[in-house]
Amino acid sequence: MSFTIAIDGPAAAGKGTLAQALSAHFGFAYLDTGLLYRAVGAGVIAGGDPVAVAQALDPSDLNADTLRTQAVAEAASRVAVIPDVRAALVAFQRSFARRDGGAVLDGRDIGTVICPDADVKLFVTASAEIRADRRFAELTAKGVQTDLAAILDEVRARDDRDQNRAEAPLIAAADATLIDTTSMTAAEALAQAITIVTAKRA
Ligand code: DC
Repeated sequence: MSFTIAIDGPAAAGKGTLAQALSAHFGFAYLDTGLLYRAVGAGVIAGGDPVAVAQALDPSDLNADTLRTQAVAEAASRVAVIPDVRAALVAFQRSFARRDGGAVLDGRDIGTVICPDADVKLFVTASAEIRADRRFAELTAKGVQTDLAAILDEVRARDDRDQNRAEAPLIAAADATLIDTTSMTAAEALAQAITIVTAKRA
């Protein structure tokens, strides 16, 4: 039987951490849909045409490590405004969502466009300042030298592009539960999400 959890929200709000922990807790499969857009962005950086790259993409063969750079994130956010790029990625996401045994998908348009009938929809957000602080701490811990003000600018620019594009903009589905992680730990956000999913499965 399938059971779909859709998690949307802006960059660095903690949705990936939450989605991974939720999928582990319930034994569901997990798809980070941002990686699909990142793979297309990386293909464009390498000189490809965005639509051709999206249409040729093999989603089962993505190397997450090389796709986690700031430059690729930026390129992903740019290709994500192109309707034919988004269209090329829909079928894979929908079939992943319907797989037997349950699935967690995170992204920007999962509860609104990809899986409007998801069993549980969560919208995970946090203030831009706290998201920039977390990203800064993450990079600093990895030994990457960065600048907090520059990260905050990037977070805001990406929010602006993701929220204001014409096609599948970042927006909470009307029936999504909002989880604001601004003053929450990852464990608190997970506990809240587990409560919501458990109630829905009962
Ligand atoms: O979640 P992320 O930071 O890896 O996503 C990178 C970019 O991909 C993001 O800025 C917008 C785009 N994206 C999207 O448009 N729709 C999704 N479902 C997931 C990501």
